[in-house]
Amino acid sequence: MFTRLDHVGIACTDLDESIRFYRAVYGLEVCHREKNDDQGVVEAMLRLNGSDDGGATYLQLLAPTRADSPVSKFLRSRGEGVHHIAFGCPDVDQASVSLQAKGMNVLFTPPRYASMGSRATFLHPRECGGVLVEIVTSAGSASV
Ligand code: CO
Repeated sequence: MFTRLDHVGIACTDLDESIRFYRAVYGLEVCHREKNDDQGVVEAMLRLNGSDDGGATYLQLLAPTRADSPVSKFLRSRGEGVHHIAFGCPDVDQASVSLQAKGMNVLFTPPRYASMGSRATFLHPRECGGVLVEIVTSAGSASV
């Protein structure tokens, strides 16, 4: 079902400060910045490597743009840190159906617009051992 790790989402309070940290310490560069009004976040994608299905693996730095966004709530209760992991797959619609058939709580059906033209949905952490799981089909995937 999943073909790769697409990204790890990291919640941060100050996006530019976090970008400076990842650049200074790890030498990672921002390949894409985007504001998602629907999710109430501004995000920066730091590309680690490409993958053989046309996608890539990233770190996704997320900072809230409003106090009632899910990332704001996360920061208030947990502080900065790992927010979610995202698995890449060739067909997020098909993966959603298959996961629902296994009793998983798929949060967005149909999947929503996500970073860089990708489409994504989430699994509730309650059924996933406390991990918020995103399932993403990148715009660059062969099947898109
Ligand atoms: Co994400």
